[in-house]
Amino acid sequence: MENRIKVGILFGGKSAEHEVSIQSAKNVYDAIDKNKYQVTMIGISKRGQWFLDHYFEKGCVPAPVENADGGENLALVLGTGENQLLEVAGKNLIGALDVVFPVLHGPFGEDGTVQGLLKQANIPFVGADVLGSAVGMDKDVMKRLLRDSDLPIAPYVLLHKYADAEMPNPTYQEIAAYLCVPFFVKPANLGSSVGISKVQDEGEFDQAVAEAFQYDHKLIVEKNIVGREMEISILGNENPMASLPGEIISQHSFYSYEAKYLDEHGAILKIPASLPDHLVAKIQQTALKTFKALCCEGMARVDFFLTEKDEIIINEINTIPGFTKISMYPKLWDASGISYTELIDRLIQLALARFNRDRQLKTSR
Ligand SMILES: Nc1ncnc2c1ncn2[C@@H]1O[C@H](COP(=O)(O)OP(=O)(O)O)[C@@H](O)[C@H]1O
Ligand SMILES: [Mg+2]
Repeated sequence: MENRIKVGILFGGKSAEHEVSIQSAKNVYDAIDKNKYQVTMIGISKRGQWFLDHYFEKGCVPAPVENADGGENLALVLGTGENQLLEVAGKNLIGALDVVFPVLHGPFGEDGTVQGLLKQANIPFVGADVLGSAVGMDKDVMKRLLRDSDLPIAPYVLLHKYADAEMPNPTYQEIAAYLCVPFFVKPANLGSSVGISKVQDEGEFDQAVAEAFQYDHKLIVEKNIVGREMEISILGNENPMASLPGEIISQHSFYSYEAKYLDEHGAILKIPASLPDHLVAKIQQTALKTFKALCCEGMARVDFFLTEKDEIIINEINTIPGFTKISMYPKLWDASGISYTELIDRLIQLALARFNRDRQLKTSR
């Protein structure tokens, strides 16, 4: 009798961070305790097709994720009491998953959409719920909530693709006067530094805006913060805890996609960061407040800058942080005494605990 917990790992996906997700999933697959968990790898192609993926067992995962074996489309059957995963064409019931770990980064994975689907299907899942995921994905909404909680953020303005005469976008001159150059242009909803530029002049601004509008209709234009770049990991539901902070020393003009994933020497990670104890405590407190203000649960990585005057400025939250070999989230826990395998175990247990907690809520009078 199989008595292991059945975990579905979702990876790939429709976002520009598809390739990063494959790397993350590979590490989660390798590290998960297979005596305790029975793993079902569910690939999501760039088109959004779900299928059972067997490449991880073979140890070589092609990128992008494709249904090369011609496996059947998967569907979730709703409302049967137990959630059911179904191979559609052969009507082959794969059976219930006890929990899903969405190892997906960016839109369609980290933004609440997959979380909503899993919730409808009555499946516990790792990480933030629908609201926390959606809020964490949209840098504008995220920063507004942080501002509302008196948490420190960098000054920014918005650009809308469909701005009109009634609500026009600010001009380059207005932005440069308000934020000074250089400043950052970013799509509001994305990650992994995709579509982000550091702008020095009007020519670069026009290019940066055109590039970023390819990814989103809403852009953040943000003041350049001069300081050390730091990240910290959070784990837990109602009583989350914070790891030690880590530092990123980018070898590029900022921590770009190239510095993150393509250039082997693109960034130096200092784990843990060298900081006095009082500052570590202050950073941990601020990160925990951030996690709560942004309605997160399970896990998140909070990224921030530390200025020369020891001011903490929160840059963003990532509700499904990278799990690649060189990723900060698991490495910071490792440095704080929780191994990769134990971390995955705890994340899954937190998912189950939240599901059971929420199931106690009344759904009718
Ligand atoms: N306001 C800023 N000041 C200085 N550097 C920034 C700022 N915003 C972004 N960056 C740089 O760009 C990188 C990516 O930006 P970020 O907002 O974290 O987007 P992503 O979600 O793609 O990681 C950061 O890690 C940092 O190096
Ligand atoms: Mg970032």
